[in-house]
Amino acid sequence: MAIIIDDYGKVFTLHTKSTTYQMKADGQNVLLHAYYGERTDNSDKSLLSYRADRGFSGNPYQVGKHDRTYSLDSLPQEYSVFGTGDYRITALRVQNGDGSQAAELCYDGYQVRKGKYAVPGLPAVYGGEEAETLAVRLKDPYSCLEVELYYGVFEELDVITRAVKITNKGEGAVLLQKAATVNLDWEWGDFQWISFYGRHSMEMNMQRENIHHGVQSIGSVRGISSHQYNPFMILCEKGANEAMGGCYGFSFLYSGEFLMEAEKNQFGRTRLVCGIHPDNFAWTLEPEGVLWLPEVMMTYSGSGMGQMSRNFHKAIREHVCRGEWRDKRRPILINNWEATYFNFTGDDLVAIAREAKKLGVELFVMDDGWFGKREDDNSGLGDWTPNEKKLGCTLRELVERIHGEGMQFGIWLEPEGISEDSDLYRSHPEWAVNVPGRKPCLSRNQLILDFSREDVQDHIIKQISDLLDKVPITYVKWDMNRAVCDKFSRVLPPERQGEFAHRYVLGLYRVLEELTSRFPKVLIEGCAGGGGRFDAGMLYYTPQIWGSDTTDAVERLSIQYGASFGYPVSAMGSHVSTVPNHQTGRETPLFTRGCLAMAGTFGYELDVDKMTREEKAIVREQVETFKKYYHLLQHGDYYRITTPFEGSCTVWEVASPSGTEALISAVYHHVQPNPVMSWVKVQGLKEESKYQLFLYEGLMEDYPEEKLPYGFRPGEYISGASLKHSGFVLPSAVNEFQAWQVYIKECEE
Ligand code: DGJ
Repeated sequence: MAIIIDDYGKVFTLHTKSTTYQMKADGQNVLLHAYYGERTDNSDKSLLSYRADRGFSGNPYQVGKHDRTYSLDSLPQEYSVFGTGDYRITALRVQNGDGSQAAELCYDGYQVRKGKYAVPGLPAVYGGEEAETLAVRLKDPYSCLEVELYYGVFEELDVITRAVKITNKGEGAVLLQKAATVNLDWEWGDFQWISFYGRHSMEMNMQRENIHHGVQSIGSVRGISSHQYNPFMILCEKGANEAMGGCYGFSFLYSGEFLMEAEKNQFGRTRLVCGIHPDNFAWTLEPEGVLWLPEVMMTYSGSGMGQMSRNFHKAIREHVCRGEWRDKRRPILINNWEATYFNFTGDDLVAIAREAKKLGVELFVMDDGWFGKREDDNSGLGDWTPNEKKLGCTLRELVERIHGEGMQFGIWLEPEGISEDSDLYRSHPEWAVNVPGRKPCLSRNQLILDFSREDVQDHIIKQISDLLDKVPITYVKWDMNRAVCDKFSRVLPPERQGEFAHRYVLGLYRVLEELTSRFPKVLIEGCAGGGGRFDAGMLYYTPQIWGSDTTDAVERLSIQYGASFGYPVSAMGSHVSTVPNHQTGRETPLFTRGCLAMAGTFGYELDVDKMTREEKAIVREQVETFKKYYHLLQHGDYYRITTPFEGSCTVWEVASPSGTEALISAVYHHVQPNPVMSWVKVQGLKEESKYQLFLYEGLMEDYPEEKLPYGFRPGEYISGASLKHSGFVLPSAVNEFQAWQVYIKECEE
């Protein structure tokens, strides 16, 4: 049993393999948070919480007269509310019918069951018998607002999920002004918080700061989870690193506006609140009205961030991503975007596909520009009718030609976009998001369809279904190229406009749910100008997401490094593109570009026809390498060995969970004369076994066998213990951005 409840039904202890989480309904019927961290016993940890008569921290009426040490302002809460004596950041703020902002949540019962709860209309971590559910019910005795806190406990994964169901059991309407999913309080601890910030084409930069007095936050009010802050964060002990120290990870399964905030209060206690961003949120609950809040997935590792990341990787790969493509090898693709941009004909596309096929590529993706009036990004969005003049044939004929070359076919769509210069806009201007009577804010000269409307959702479902029914399409790239502002829906009454942002996301999820169940064989890759909507919510529908519009291998080092903290390799869309790179002008070796693409879903985005014979030979080898090591690359345990921000070489490793093999990738991001050598301590192997090392690189001729470091010469065996504790030395680099791949295999001597 992962969920243990004491004999009085008041102390709830959730155990996973290595962690324990505890809460307690106390004598005042307040649900206190008692503990989250390293696995421990079921004893009541709330007794450790220190109480004192604290000036200006008030006491609830029923206790205040005889116990001035009991204050909601200082006690660790499981789900905090605004307005009734807790002055910290809070999870829930409601406005009652009389205008008051008071709520008081009292413990009202619980339920435990096998299996994992679902969150209607929203993505959620799923599991069968390996999960258990606890639901704890809280109720405001005055307004009868009911809040059910849901916990999913995945013992083996070391993952606990949280979601919330709010029901208005009262007689009047209630306005939810803020409704976050998670409140987590730490009675003690000196923490740091790690978040991932960025911008278009430069996502997932890592930032580590001390938790200080005051409020720190990241979030999005952009309608999408955003390039600017990823809805994933880490709270860790001060000295925590890859292999040591306590680390809490929080991944929000939500693709819209979010807020993750932390506060260190007057008594040095830390509170984290995570949920939908309240700035664009005001939700009316009529009597019997229900609102489910999106899920947060949490994990704790007492042994550093590496383990924390591996917990998330496994959970996302096996319990968030769904459908046929969850486990099946995804096709190696070639996308024409950077090869042609908008400037192509059907013949050009077939030529790219033909050449790519010869190199072992399996799927051709036709990117933007194939439909309506779309010669650039100023028009055409919404008109998903093939431009037969440009393609020189019908779409079906083009697909047949691509199939004829032995390639599968994929297509780009931006279903949420609408251009003013489009037939769709001319016939349905009211479907575009804007505030009536005002001019909308343009971005990429386009508008956004009002996905909060059911008629719009139905239209998109029909359009895409018709396309997928008529033409044999294996893959869809679902793009979205602007943030959402001017938030307003013509079908919502004035008092419900504050629901727009969340309803948009619910609408998007409805469309994706419908399409993925109608077309389970189609692989959908998410995209929002790269990583503008790179979140665990999208991964529930699209098992991979284009990671960034930057294809430069050196910039991808840090983007993919950042993403690896919360997301598996199998989620990261990554392609080999041409040099000089289109975003940075940088020249990097083709082998290096391949290494980076293999730390993702792997594919190409260049004109193969323009490649030299030597380059084509390298591509052929890359494709073979990827296929050969696919199981390791995409499903292995991932280790960050060094960072792109220090030293001269970024190194990462994927190892088989059984420890029989590993693949190390190393990219020299800084080549120096007379270099200091780079050492790699290999993780995840069996200490008692013997291994052999095999070196791959594009310029092997520069490394005659006798010059190779110890371990690389044929016939040399090294023990797992030696590889783990003393490691091996990487060959140095002779070229800028040179990369190595080292395959390590258990062998009989
Ligand atoms: C943004 C995407 O991230 C690119 O890969 C490409 O598909 C363009 N949109 C097309 O407009």
